[in-house]
Parts: sequence; C-alpha cells; structure tokens
Amino acid sequence: MSSNDITSVLKEDRSFPPPSAFQQRALIGSMEEYDRLWTYAAEQPERFWAEQATTCLNWFKRWDRVLDWQLPHAKWFTGGKLNVSYNCLDRHLLTWRRNKAAIIWEGEPGDRRVLTYNDLHHEVCRAANMLKKQGIGSGDRVTIYMPLVPELAISMLACARIGAVHNVVFGGFSSEAIADRNRDSQARLIITADGGWRRGAIVPLKANVDAAMAKSPSVERVIVLKRTGWEVPMQAGRDLWWHDEMATVSANCQAEELDSEHPLFLLYTSGSTGKPKGILHTTAGYLLHATLTSQVVLDLKDDDTYWCTADVGWITGHSYVVYGPLANGATTVMYEGAPNFPDWGRLWEIIERNKVSVFYTAPTAIRACAREGSKWPKQRDLTSLRLLGSVGEPINPEAWMWYRDTIGGGRCPIIDTWWQTETGGMMITPLPGAMATVPGSATRPFFGVVPDIIDASGNSVPRGKGGFLVIRQPWPGMLRTIWGDDERYKTQYWSQAPGVYFTGDGARQDAAGNYWILGRIDDVINVAGHRLSTMEVESALVSHPSVAEAAVVGAPHELKGEGLHAFVLLEGSHRPSDSLMRDLMDHVVRQIGALARPESVRFAQALPKTRSGKIMRRLLRDIAAGRASVGDTTSLEDFSVLATLRANEDV
Ligand code: WTA
Repeated sequence: MSSNDITSVLKEDRSFPPPSAFQQRALIGSMEEYDRLWTYAAEQPERFWAEQATTCLNWFKRWDRVLDWQLPHAKWFTGGKLNVSYNCLDRHLLTWRRNKAAIIWEGEPGDRRVLTYNDLHHEVCRAANMLKKQGIGSGDRVTIYMPLVPELAISMLACARIGAVHNVVFGGFSSEAIADRNRDSQARLIITADGGWRRGAIVPLKANVDAAMAKSPSVERVIVLKRTGWEVPMQAGRDLWWHDEMATVSANCQAEELDSEHPLFLLYTSGSTGKPKGILHTTAGYLLHATLTSQVVLDLKDDDTYWCTADVGWITGHSYVVYGPLANGATTVMYEGAPNFPDWGRLWEIIERNKVSVFYTAPTAIRACAREGSKWPKQRDLTSLRLLGSVGEPINPEAWMWYRDTIGGGRCPIIDTWWQTETGGMMITPLPGAMATVPGSATRPFFGVVPDIIDASGNSVPRGKGGFLVIRQPWPGMLRTIWGDDERYKTQYWSQAPGVYFTGDGARQDAAGNYWILGRIDDVINVAGHRLSTMEVESALVSHPSVAEAAVVGAPHELKGEGLHAFVLLEGSHRPSDSLMRDLMDHVVRQIGALARPESVRFAQALPKTRSGKIMRRLLRDIAAGRASVGDTTSLEDFSVLATLRANEDV
C-alpha cells in the first residue's frame, strides 16, 4: 500500500467550544493549560510522569528510575513496588469511599446488584484465595471467559492481587478461539460461567469451554460461576463451582507487592498477519495511563455515575470499565446484555434510572440507535448526562451530531477517543474542558503522546496531507511485547519506520492542528468496533474441506462501519450453492465467533493477483463495496480478465 491511497474527502467546519460550566469544574480548563502541560510532558516526559505517578498511584516502594528505554523496549518505574488491586480497592477503604458504590450492575433479565468498594474488596480477596487454593500464583496465566457480571471484574482484580496474569476472552468468541488463546498463553486455569444472557437467550459459555478443553492441555481447572441456572455437565476433578469454592476461603488476602513491570494481563488482538497476538501489559505504566486519562479525559468526579458500554473482553472494558474508574474510586455501571433487549430503549432507561452522568460507547452502537429513531431516547429523561464519549472506530459527523443533539441535548461535550489495545489507554482525544470539539476529529494528543504523520519513506508530511500515524516517544501504557514472540513485536510495530511506533492507522492533521483518523491501512478490519484480520478469516475459510483459496476484504457497512466480504475458490469437485455459502459462513463463526460472520461469500474461478502472486485486494474491495447485496451467489466470478488488465498494479 502506498501513502497516496490515504486521502480524505471529509470537509467539516463545525466546531463546539467547551461549555463554560463544564470548563470551570474540569481539571484542565483551557487550551493554554493543555498546551503548557502537553509541551512539558513532551519535553520532560520523565519529570511529568514521575509527578503523575506520585499523585495518581499508591506505592509500596518508590521507583528508582522512571524510564529505561532500549528501543523498542520500555520499562517504566523500575525498582518500584505496587499492586493494581490495592490501588483499585484497598486505598479507598481508608477514606469515606469505603461504602460508595463501586459497581452498579444490571443483568439482561433485569436483575440488579450494587457492590460498594468494601463489598468488592471482600469478594476480590476471597476470589484471590480461591485461586491460590488451586495453586495459582505469581506469573501464572488465567483465562477468563465470562458474561458481563461483577464476577468478571472480581476475577481480574483477584488475579492482579496475587500477580497472576489474566487473559480475558470475549464471550462472543468460539471454542476454537478459546483453545488458541489457552495454548498460546499456556493458561493453567479458566474461570467461566454456566452461561450468560444475550437477547433473551443463553450464551453457552461452559459448553464452549468444554469443547476447547480437548485442545487446551495446559489447563488444569475450570471454575464455573452459576449465572443462568442452566444445567451444565461438571467434570469431576477438573470443574469446580465458584460458589462452593468461595465458601471455603477467607476474605483476608494481602495484596502482593509486585514490581512495576510485573505482567498484569494479556489480551489477544488481530494483527495483519497470522494468528491473533497476545498483547502484554504490565503493572505500573498501564495503571497510571488508565488512571490519569480517566481523570482528565473522562473527567470522572466523585459524584459521577459513569457508564462505559464496552464488553470487558476488549481493551476498552479493561481500561475504562474496570481499572481506570476503580483506581479513581468512581462508580462504574456494568450491563450484561444487548442494547436492544427487550427493545431499543434499554440504554436510555439504564441512564435515566441510574442518573448516569458520563457515558462512553462506540460509533456502531450510536449508528444503530440513530437508525431506530429518536423516539426511544425521547421517552427518557437524559438530563443527568454531562459528557459523552466514543471509541473503537471513526465516528462519522452525522452520527456525532445525532449523539450530541439527541442524547446529549446539545449541552454535553463529545470526546472522540483514538487509541488501541496496544496503547493501553487513550492517545488522541479532546480534553472536554479545554478544547473545542469537531465532529469526526479525535483532535489532540494526550499528555506524553507525541504523534506524527509520515509518508512511505518515513518523512513527516505537511499539515492537511494524509499519511501513516506513528508515535515518536514511549509512553507508560504502551504494550511491552507480544507474548512469546518478541520478534513479531519488533517487526509489527517498530520496523516500518526507524525508531517510531507504527499504529497501522492512516491520519491527517488539519490546519488548526486537529488529528483526523482515516482508518486502518493494513489488513485489519474494524467490524462494529471489533478488530479482525482478513488473514484470520481467510485461514478459517481455507480450513473448510471445500475451499482451496480465499480472500477476504472489508467494505463500508451502514451500521458496523465495515463488513467482511469473502471470495472463495473451491476444491476440484465442489460446486457453488446457497447451502455451501451458508455452511461457509457458519464455519467461520465456529472457527472465530459470530462477530466474524461474512456479509457475503462469493465463489470465484480465480482470484485476481498481481504478477508477483499477491491478491489484488483493492480490486476485490471495489467489487465488495459496489455490490453490497449478496445477489446471485451461485455463479462463478471470473476475475482473470480484470486481473490481466490490472496485473501491473500494486496491491
Ligand atoms: C480504531 C480500541 C477512529 C483504529 C480502543 C485503531 C478508532 C483500532 C478510534 C484499535 C477512534 C479506535 N477513531 N478509529 N476514536 N478508536 N479506532 O485495539 O483503527 O480494539 O487502530 O482498540 O480501532 O482497535 P482496538
């Protein structure tokens, strides 16, 4: 791909200054203050971050050195000792917050629970002892495959308390995906549930784990939370009930004193090549980034009720449902189910009833709600809201304006936050009390984040021109490596241009200095805000006995942002049919999960390739975008003529 491909057609001149009432209460209340601090952090990052680490976190032992940077490996706060669970819980018990609501939870069927910081601390200590009883200790990997229930956060914090490394697997992933992650991380234990509720049905989480177990030799124990009451088989000697085990252990458990760079969690995400990679985040730097951005960007105050709708199976749920809010002693809302169950009013009802003041969601949810019309939000009193956020994919100005007017009543700033699993926390985002927001722009870099936009030869491009988004300096929340594959870490992120972190996104900076994210420039596709690699879906297709070769591309989708479109070449005796098409779609769902179901599968006689044998994805993308409907899928498409015509083009 050449950087000429990155063009931006968007023209946007609306701009909304921060409301003055908001500005007065915000930590950073003016552009001058933002500029001063950003420059300070860019010029003296070690001083800036040492100050923040002192005020944001509690330490058992202070660090010796702020940053040890041996490109491309960073170590932050070396010599320091702390514990993430202590920072999220114990330190609040010493204050009036001990009986403040930490988690306000709502199940899809309508059941509700509120856990105070004191309650949560008890549960986490017991869960930590439960893990210890099974022989889990510092550095052991624990897979967590659960519905969005408080026990998910409790499990993560319990791991953090004893130094075990959690790997949360999104509940929408299939048994194959669980097994892959178990094998790669060499997990010793899985925490799951008998099921979870989604659109009125039970997601068979335990059954998926059972199916994964045959291919997960490292896993010794499965702890099962009773969530739905659905009967599940329990294998003696291997499977244990959460409630039985929790009843046998005490609620006293000291938080381990862990090194700053102790591994905190793995989270698998798609890259442009091969299998999903285990992104490694460590203790101090990650927590500092999540904590500070929650204060400055989400503007969390003690009287806020905050709700981030992300599933905890994604990085947004890690940083901004669990760790960032809890480290700040905030009240975080968790909702188990679908936004449209029992109807499209569910989100707004939850906001009204809990008087949610800060709301953080994804463009795909905003677009889906906008399509259902304003009548749902209009039935509810949303005046408790004061700040709205968006994350996961570019938000189109139309959806942005609907969000602002219909949900925010025209009074709430919108923070469009750009970041990645790899970055740990927000990187480019408005500070809502300091800067004017512009529909579709993520605006400015956060403190300590030094972005640049470069061309294919690594030179910075002038303002207004599109290019590759890179980050020029290490920051505390950055990933440390790819689990078990440091070479891949180096090539994937640090080899495209010397000395800089390569994000995989295209971007442009406008004349005013605001950043516009233009989307992925590699083979990663953002489907409803979920990252998938075309390669992953292609290899799932090729693992089907009828498929000889497959190419998968993304094309614009009204609600999901992008959808997946597959082109397949069949093995000798197989013939195209509608039933085979459906079978292939189901096969992808079995291999990866429902989020990867292709919008269309087309049968081809040949795939268009360049002379060097690379699939001409651009051509396929045009075809996929031009014909969104599946149409006559049984005919074979012959790309050979087109392929010859375009044989000299780039991929
Ligand atoms: C995209 C999610 C535009 C981007 C936190 C990035 C965005 C990928 C935005 C990371 C945004 C995320 N505007 N694009 N505000 N936020 N992206 O790892 O392509 O699931 O590289 O992390 O999502 O997705 P991930």
